[in-house]
Amino acid sequence: MTWLDNDTAAALRREFAAALDSARTSAWTDAFAAVPRHAFVPTYYNQDRAGTWQRIGPENPRYLKSVYSDHALTTQLDQQGFPTSSSSEPSVMLAMLEALDAHPGDTVLELGTGTGYNAALLCHRLGEANITTIDIDPALTSAAAQRLADLDLHPFITTGDGARGWKDRAPYQRFLATAALRAIPTAFLEQAAPGAIIVAPIGYGILRVTVTAPGHGTGWFLPIPAHFMPRRTMSAPPAFDQAREAEPTQTKTPPGDILDRLRFPLSLALPGHTTCSWRGEDGEVTAVGIWTEDGSTTTAHASGAVRQVGPRRLWDTIEDLAETFDGEPRRQDFHVNITPSRQTVWYQTPDGPWWELPQPS
Ligand SMILES: C[S@@+](CC[C@H](N)C(=O)[O-])C[C@H]1O[C@@H](n2cnc3c(N)ncnc32)[C@H](O)[C@@H]1O
Repeated sequence: MTWLDNDTAAALRREFAAALDSARTSAWTDAFAAVPRHAFVPTYYNQDRAGTWQRIGPENPRYLKSVYSDHALTTQLDQQGFPTSSSSEPSVMLAMLEALDAHPGDTVLELGTGTGYNAALLCHRLGEANITTIDIDPALTSAAAQRLADLDLHPFITTGDGARGWKDRAPYQRFLATAALRAIPTAFLEQAAPGAIIVAPIGYGILRVTVTAPGHGTGWFLPIPAHFMPRRTMSAPPAFDQAREAEPTQTKTPPGDILDRLRFPLSLALPGHTTCSWRGEDGEVTAVGIWTEDGSTTTAHASGAVRQVGPRRLWDTIEDLAETFDGEPRRQDFHVNITPSRQTVWYQTPDGPWWELPQPS
């Protein structure tokens, strides 16, 4: 055990595990009660109202309680102060582990080692020899390997793009991605054992897929929302200056709460988009902006004036979705079908509205 493990931490951890699984139905509760999250999150960052990040460590009286609470904790920032790694919300981790339906002895590939905490939970229940975990950031994999070794856990850890999987240790019975993906990576399908299960955040949801034949799979989204860090890529900045000069049209769908209400289907229809809003002095939203990596940019004013520039007309997609969905659609009504040539998501019935996921890289 680590320098910090003591009766207080152990008691908090047991309470934390019991609260995560109050119905006592999960086979993962023992792992949450046994694995010290604090060993993997020696410090985290908290953002105050002004947007300033504060580093919180064991010397802070809040630290241990926060570590053993159901909160995502930001563990790494880049030079601009953007979060680049975190320990996810434990209840979401538990839901994903449950969805994985793994049993002791199953081989698992995890994309997104991060702190190493999830890898430790996997080792605890499934056996360290069966776990392969990959992160794109060498500083993270080396810190995670050290923390795991301190607890005498030795999964296979490597640095690289987890979407390529790790062929040398294939086939895998289970795949767990903890960074948001755009589609199920081809390498996962190629490295899957027959009947393998893949659990991965796609857009603002979590997809669970069963591999039904080589290159083929079917599945559905879990009912819970997900806000995972995207798998890192390059993207164009929003073209707001150009949009300001564009001739406005009038939308049938005023901005209001539309981006919140359609957040999930929008994340499927416009993968990797970013949104922002402008507020007046009274705090009311006066306009929203949305842009995608190809430089397409749209602004929509509360008056209904819309300006669209770039290769795609993003507000047209929002209007289509607003016509399709009256309220906020349930994630579990979205299903996926995967073939070697395409991955499609359909809503409610196979002949209902559907979207094609981007070609996996
Ligand atoms: C939410 S954190 C992972 C949390 C982690 N499972 C844990 O228990 O601490 C997401 C991680 O995905 C990693 N990541 C982003 N893109 C990746 C990629 N292409 N391949 C592997 N890891 C990636 C990030 O560096 C980050 O550490």
